[in-house]
Amino acid sequence: MDLKSRIDLTHLPEHIAIIMDGNGRWAKRQGQPRVFGHRNGVKAVREATEAAAELGVKYMTLYAFSTENWNRPKFEINALMTLLVKTLRTEINTLNENDIRLEAIGDITKLPSQCYKELIEGIENTKNNKRMTLVLALNYSARWEITEAVKKIAEGVANKEILPEHIDKRIFENALTTKGIPDPELLIRTSGEARISNFLLWQIAYTELYFTKIFWPEFRKEHLYKAILDFQSRERRFGKTSEQIVK
Ligand code: IPE
Ligand code: IPE
Ligand code: MG
Repeated sequence: MDLKSRIDLTHLPEHIAIIMDGNGRWAKRQGQPRVFGHRNGVKAVREATEAAAELGVKYMTLYAFSTENWNRPKFEINALMTLLVKTLRTEINTLNENDIRLEAIGDITKLPSQCYKELIEGIENTKNNKRMTLVLALNYSARWEITEAVKKIAEGVANKEILPEHIDKRIFENALTTKGIPDPELLIRTSGEARISNFLLWQIAYTELYFTKIFWPEFRKEHLYKAILDFQSRERRFGKTSEQIVK
């Protein structure tokens, strides 16, 4: 049986998050500049998005640019931003055809104005789509997000809208940029690195982590199927015993 038909569609992760890593190394391995890897990463984005939507996954979050990525050479940052504008322009139609809504998390107002503009347009043009939400993490980092949430809550306390003793998980979650989006059940990182790199720290408290050696530009539908099958073979206990789960 092929990988896709082995997936239990009644037990799909509702939200999959991906740290798309390894573009630079993939390019270098074939004697090409790092930017070549980023350009070839677009096809992988398409494949992952399409595969997830076809299966019935409801949310997919892609880590596209971290706050730390501003420390890269200027040339590479510019190339990434140009690629983002170009991709948003060409892919919005495909998102609409596939009934996929675009969203973004991160400090997007600090992106170059052209990127910000394309992004807002893309979000606006796809806002009524229902099949899946594709969330781009852009100029995102979890510590930035958590710090912003703390500021918001502190303001609420200062304005007497929130009592300190009422601050709970729900109030905190509503102050995050992922408000309204369920926590990811599955987090995939490509390229063989086994770290989180400041991604969704609050939201992945109970997420299943999946690391693959595949470099992002090589990522295809089959790799997503493999990750989901691995996820489906795991027992999620949430602190309970195995006996309590298998009933
Ligand atoms: C991921 O690939 C893309 C971004 C972080 C924007 P990298 O550019 O990090 O590629 P490697 O990890 O250096 O190979
Ligand atoms: C994480 O990848 C960020 C994105 C995929 C956008 P990095 O390549 O920037 O992470 P580190 O520096 O290897 O931890
Ligand atoms: Mg990397």
